[in-house]
Amino acid sequence: GAPVEVDITKLELGQLIRVEWRGKPVWVVYRTPKMLEQLGQIGDRLLDPESSEEKQQPSYAQNMTRSSREEILVAVGICTHLGCSPTYISEGYEEIVEGVSSGFHCPCHGSKFDLAGRVFKGVPAGLNLQIPPYYYIDDTTILIG
Ligand code: FES
Repeated sequence: GAPVEVDITKLELGQLIRVEWRGKPVWVVYRTPKMLEQLGQIGDRLLDPESSEEKQQPSYAQNMTRSSREEILVAVGICTHLGCSPTYISEGYEEIVEGVSSGFHCPCHGSKFDLAGRVFKGVPAGLNLQIPPYYYIDDTTILIG
């Protein structure tokens, strides 16, 4: 499949846009400062907070935000359990995970992921969401693939 170019000029704080890459949904999320702050506070509740599973992301996304630019998440929007598409919840995620205000929730069997796509402990999915290869052509253009 061909690489996909994503223009993020109009992406707003807290917004998720979905693009198609190799037949898969890929999300691009502009995380707010509050969302980023939370990523640093929940490590003990996650299965693989350090992204040590190397095949789940390129090396430049093997960090706490799982991204090359910290405010922008690029992730494959497919649950690592059985392949459903998790729902993005930008506010009110506390109802799903106590004390966490945003994340992704899989409607199929209830897997939970934070806004870096890191899976919470105790859910069916056993791996963090996949981060595809990507890079910035310029400040506002991402090339995925
Ligand atoms: Fe997502 Fe099963 S497919 S929890």
